[in-house]
Amino acid sequence: MTAFDVLAALVHAGSGLVLGSDKLYLLEARLAPLLKREKLAGLDALAIRLAGCGPDHELARDVMEAMTTNESLFFRDTKPFAHVRNVALPRLCSAGRPLRLWSAAAASGQEAYSLAMIVEAAAPPQRVDIVGTDLSRDQVTRARAGLFTQFEVQRGLPVRLLLQHFMQEPTGWRISVSLRAMCSFRRENLLGDLSALGTFDLVFLRNVLIYFDIVDKTRVLSAVAARMAPNGLLYLGTADSILGLDVPFTPLAGERGVYIRTGLPSGPSTHAASRRNWPQALDPATAHADVPVVSIDRRVAVARH
Ligand SMILES: C[S@@+](CC[C@H](N)C(=O)[O-])C[C@H]1O[C@@H](n2cnc3c(N)ncnc32)[C@H](O)[C@@H]1O
Repeated sequence: MTAFDVLAALVHAGSGLVLGSDKLYLLEARLAPLLKREKLAGLDALAIRLAGCGPDHELARDVMEAMTTNESLFFRDTKPFAHVRNVALPRLCSAGRPLRLWSAAAASGQEAYSLAMIVEAAAPPQRVDIVGTDLSRDQVTRARAGLFTQFEVQRGLPVRLLLQHFMQEPTGWRISVSLRAMCSFRRENLLGDLSALGTFDLVFLRNVLIYFDIVDKTRVLSAVAARMAPNGLLYLGTADSILGLDVPFTPLAGERGVYIRTGLPSGPSTHAASRRNWPQALDPATAHADVPVVSIDRRVAVARH
């Protein structure tokens, strides 16, 4: 077994990220600062140091977090945010009860804060909480601070919203107190136990499933589904797909990348986001039902964790 094999296996077991053998250059580039910090000569020395460590070991976590891709921007892909603003949020707000939104794999917080800007503009009467989670502690710390560079606020954020919601500081632009109060961030592994997070009406799970294999994609989507209200909405990234996966989501007709949480046991729902409360266009009965479904051997996933 080479050092690459050891490190790739550790990263996969702990975070789900799949590193093909062509990614040796990526491993070397991203772990270079860690090697320097630990005064290690190279990947071989790191692999030896990590021998016998589980994914929860501090150094193993550092390796996993160094391998994550944290690219994000405000209002990324535009369309999902327009859907939240124009369709999902007005419907959810009409229920009158508190709402919970989840930016799973939140990176440095742009997605959660974009949602918060939409919520603040809608000024719903009820409380709305937005939770952002990410594997990377550095990213969670950054998201909590809500401080973004000039480069970051120039990506996807209209100038009007920059001036409305940010204060300029010597080192960047700080998001407003009111938006920070709406959002909370915590470290959470999507492959871990997510039950403490509670239940969400709307989930953004974007641009992270692309790094996982089919077993972990299924596992994460099933775990996310378990954290969603009946008929809650799931938004995936443009390159993500549930095609062929045995998961309780149905694509929303005419809305690429938006899915309804289906497949819960039938019976009267006490949740305000129940099916009868969605307009016709959002009703699972009118959503595409032509997605082929295959079963995944879940024993593989269970054995690995
Ligand atoms: C490319 S960013 C996506 C950010 C944002 N969702 C977006 O679309 O702009 C992917 C994020 O997923 C996080 N991530 C990767 N594996 C994870 C895991 N197993 N659990 C939680 N977060 C994970 C990474 O730390 C990274 O910040």
